[in-house]
Amino acid sequence: MGAERGATGEGPHLPARRKRVFSGIQPSGSFHIGNYLGAIRNWVDQQAAYDNVFCIVDLHALSLPTTREGLSGNILHLANVLLASGIDPEQSILFVQSDVREHTELCWLLNSVTQFGDLRRMTQFKDKAGGKDEQVSAALFVYPVLQAADILLYDTDLVPVGEDQKQHIELTRDVAARFNARYGETFVLPAPDIKPQGARIMSLDDPTKKMSKSDPSANATVALTDTPDTIRKKIRRAVTDSGSDVIAGPDKPALTNLLSIFALFADLTVPEVETRYAGKGYGAFKADLAELVVERLAPIQERLAELEADPAVAARLLAEGAERARLRAAAKMDEVRDRVGVGGGRS
Ligand code: AMP
Ligand code: TRP
Repeated sequence: MGAERGATGEGPHLPARRKRVFSGIQPSGSFHIGNYLGAIRNWVDQQAAYDNVFCIVDLHALSLPTTREGLSGNILHLANVLLASGIDPEQSILFVQSDVREHTELCWLLNSVTQFGDLRRMTQFKDKAGGKDEQVSAALFVYPVLQAADILLYDTDLVPVGEDQKQHIELTRDVAARFNARYGETFVLPAPDIKPQGARIMSLDDPTKKMSKSDPSANATVALTDTPDTIRKKIRRAVTDSGSDVIAGPDKPALTNLLSIFALFADLTVPEVETRYAGKGYGAFKADLAELVVERLAPIQERLAELEADPAVAARLLAEGAERARLRAAAKMDEVRDRVGVGGGRS
């Protein structure tokens, strides 16, 4: 991979370098169609066009209480979910954050150029702290700085995420700009890559809340591992709006959400789906939506079962991914330490 560095595409004889993509996902809870449509599917679809690094962010998961067994089981499960969804280790680096120590080291250096007031404004912190600021971990508070370290360590151009992560990417840009201003041009300023469709899939129980792993109601989400019958039941029970026409609109948040799930899984636009169900009513629409989701998740579930039957496969791929990530991270940290004046080089 030695040719990558310096291949900026600026000179007439250099090949244009592919844009660098980095994204992360926490190994916590069970993954749902919001994670899939808002993030994972986009990573997979764009894989061939970019130079990709995908990270299972286990250290971020420690910001809320975890157990040793729970965490290690979730890491392997998530790796298998990502592989089953189509992440291809030939095209993308897939690794576990704690396998590359440079993430925590860079996090500390970035803490020194991050303002307390900026972190206090983060809405994800406010949501997760739930008003209990005095009791939550300090890790939950500095969570976005570790995320900035993840992204900046790999000279990332694009960060494909759901809408909820936009504020963290903006903070990452601010932190990078402040570091560059103080120590000289070191970090690339990344841009969020948020698709207009699917960036915010809402709860099936309450279309004013986003679909979330931590939702206490099991009916709020469709998990990627739900059985066909469970999927059918959850979609049948999903709340709808008053009226009977299958149309989206600001006064129809529930239908808008179900239509966008349909459109994304069917590779159609929302107006195309509306036309298809004109005059047909909610019952027929929901029944078809359930079958569509079952059908789209089936191949992922099949591959997942195969992968879960042989955990050594994911373990090996993660070890290889970590090795590749470490090479890049180590080179970047040499540069960063030198800029800051830590980690040797004093003679
Ligand atoms: P999380 O579930 O918070 O670990 O998020 C993992 C990824 O899925 C991130 O890129 C999120 O932005 C995305 N994501 C999470 N929930 C949703 C949702 N309801 N709709 C769309 N994207 C989501
Ligand atoms: N905070 C992200 C989430 O909750 C996960 C994450 C950690 C991430 N590091 C990242 C996402 C770097 C994108 C890039 O979903």
